[in-house]
Amino acid sequence: MKRLQVAIIGQGRSGRDIHGAFLKSEANLYFQVAAVVETDEARRRRAAAEYPGARCYGDYRELFGQTDIDLVVNASYSEMHYAITKDLLEHHFHVLVEKPFARNYYECCDLINTASRNGVRLAVFQQTFFAPYYLAAKELCESGKLGEIRQVSIRFNNFARRWDWQTLQKKLGGSVYNTGPHPLGIALGLLGFDDNLQVVFSKLDRVLTSGDAEDYAKILLTAPGKPVVDVEINSTDAFHEYAIKLQGSLGTYRSTYQKYQMKYILAGENPEQPVIEESLEDENGLPAYCSEKLNLHEEEGTYDGTAFDAGTRGLYEDLYLALTEGKPLTVTCEDVAKIVRVIEYVHAQNPLDVKY
Ligand SMILES: NC(=O)c1ccc[n+]([C@@H]2O[C@H](COP(=O)([O-])OP(=O)(O)OC[C@H]3O[C@@H](n4cnc5c(N)ncnc54)[C@H](O)[C@@H]3O)[C@@H](O)[C@H]2O)c1
Repeated sequence: MKRLQVAIIGQGRSGRDIHGAFLKSEANLYFQVAAVVETDEARRRRAAAEYPGARCYGDYRELFGQTDIDLVVNASYSEMHYAITKDLLEHHFHVLVEKPFARNYYECCDLINTASRNGVRLAVFQQTFFAPYYLAAKELCESGKLGEIRQVSIRFNNFARRWDWQTLQKKLGGSVYNTGPHPLGIALGLLGFDDNLQVVFSKLDRVLTSGDAEDYAKILLTAPGKPVVDVEINSTDAFHEYAIKLQGSLGTYRSTYQKYQMKYILAGENPEQPVIEESLEDENGLPAYCSEKLNLHEEEGTYDGTAFDAGTRGLYEDLYLALTEGKPLTVTCEDVAKIVRVIEYVHAQNPLDVKY
């Protein structure tokens, strides 16, 4: 099997610690790091040692004309994603760009059109779409086991302060552009990337951040005939109890990134309870509340892997099949562009003053 030759732009928390770590691991069967681009000299020197045989550059334009590169991973700063990806596509490279896809919906569509015009593939690195906990929630929604899902709650919360570039609006930082693509991706995925999606409510705020971008976000989404989806990306929650909760007519499911619990009833297993209009009484004739012992079933378990291991592997395998066999991506760039459209809309609803 031919290993595709990859160039990685950026050697930070993403380029080195997610992409580089995966591509160097035994879990990677399909790709080989052939080149690394890093503007920082010390990081470039480290890369030369960490990827033996790989070529190292300080400027991504040095890749132009290199015909042995099958894929470029763009893990540069978020605000650079659009310009660099566009340049790479125009120079006929297939590109895997980190989230956020781009600054706004227009830029996403422009990149999709640029890829198509140049006959190359474009993908966005949102590995959560391949995380076992997301795939399980999606399958559960589709199975009907919980009946009709009325509410989905997604929590990407913690109690933490931040002071890095991801706290700055000018760098496309903040909860929604930075973390948001993951929980909003889950939200839109569970809503089937519905074209009639509505942002019903949103609030952005700054609480513990040192920068000028939000570290608190509450976003309510829905679509006709679909559940309400309640998304939180909140840095003031020291009790992060679940990542996804599904509430349906037959039961409730909640999961962290690693494990899940579910309580549900089976349709028809509990007796019908016709409405009683008169005041309720117990067997002694005393006032009573509705009370019954439902036949409840309980399940719990753990997931095999997280977004960072199983998710990364799943996304790269999906991309390999797209590049070598022309298969459509499981999550298309058109779908990911809808996530950016929500992000753009939420920011328009909640303008924050720019300080830096
Ligand atoms: N999918 C995920 O789970 C995930 C996780 C972390 C970061 N990210 C994304 O990855 C991107 C990078 O974030 P990070 O946390 O790795 O940042 P970082 O600050 O840790 O590292 C960024 C690195 O890229 C280098 N760089 C920036 N622009 C460059 C350019 N034009 N050419 C070459 N090198 C360049 C910097 O020198 C730095 O070493 C962001 O867009 C972020 O949203 C995604």
